[in-house]
Amino acid sequence: MKRKKISIIGAGFVGSTAAHWLAIQGLFDVVLLDIEEGPAQGKALDLSQSMAIEGVDVQIQGTKNYLDTKDSDLVVITAGSPRKEGMSRDDLLQINAKVMTSVCEQIKKFSPSAFVIVVSNPLDIMTYQAKRVLNFQKQKVIGMAGILDTARFRTFISRELNISVKDVQTMVLGGHGDTMVPVLSQTFVGGQLISTLISESRIEALVQRTKKGGGEIVKLLQKGSAYFAPSRGVLEMVQAILQDQKRILPCTVYLEGEYGYKDIYIGVPCQLGGAGVEKVIEISLTDKEKEDFQKSAQAIQQGQTLLKEICP
Ligand code: LAC
Repeated sequence: MKRKKISIIGAGFVGSTAAHWLAIQGLFDVVLLDIEEGPAQGKALDLSQSMAIEGVDVQIQGTKNYLDTKDSDLVVITAGSPRKEGMSRDDLLQINAKVMTSVCEQIKKFSPSAFVIVVSNPLDIMTYQAKRVLNFQKQKVIGMAGILDTARFRTFISRELNISVKDVQTMVLGGHGDTMVPVLSQTFVGGQLISTLISESRIEALVQRTKKGGGEIVKLLQKGSAYFAPSRGVLEMVQAILQDQKRILPCTVYLEGEYGYKDIYIGVPCQLGGAGVEKVIEISLTDKEKEDFQKSAQAIQQGQTLLKEICP
């Protein structure tokens, strides 16, 4: 069977770590593209050599030339400036909107049938911009954030209770920013609702730590932002799509009336499979969660307005 071709735009930490998670599956050929060709080629070569030890035959290429990405089945966009300490994701909007525009013009030209997963920040706005420029079907342009934010919340809950992360079920919805919405009414540990296991004040502390989860890592790293969990989130989405797994995952998708919103990219649970976003799942939220989701949507809409001023 012919291996699927995945191009990763941006060979920084998120892009190169995503290349690693993807290559090691043995199912995908990977093109790692960066404006700086040397580092992209070096990382691709190093990664290829690691596959010789792993015993995996896939092609991994580093390049700065979009021609090499031609006819990709899926493109992952990580390009853009990462968050620096003290910078909000929205501060990045100005810088990264232009990057996203030029990247998407190239993807549209060389891989007009690809699925596109956006990882660049501010995530919700960058995914919206990608859709504007690509003009692909909404099912094929998706942002990765909910899997990451949910992973953070699951990690903190599992540590708090000293219970396997495998048995922590939850969803973090809304925007990928300070307004994200950990859905407590849908948070279960081995079938028990979280509020029956952890005190209200401790839950609130875990929620706050999740909301600031990206910033906590930016601060500790001193340079750059998180990359292991974000890139692992990418793999989860790629597998769901290219292997038609029909997973229910929180992803940043385009709404046209679901949850009462239109013309917005925001995190909601959806069914991801061979057609991309096959279904938006409308779960029931409490009044408080709906209110929080609304605040998150408003913050994103403000970003979208600003985006349209910068890139009319
Ligand atoms: C994070 C940044 C990358 O959440 O948004 O880690």
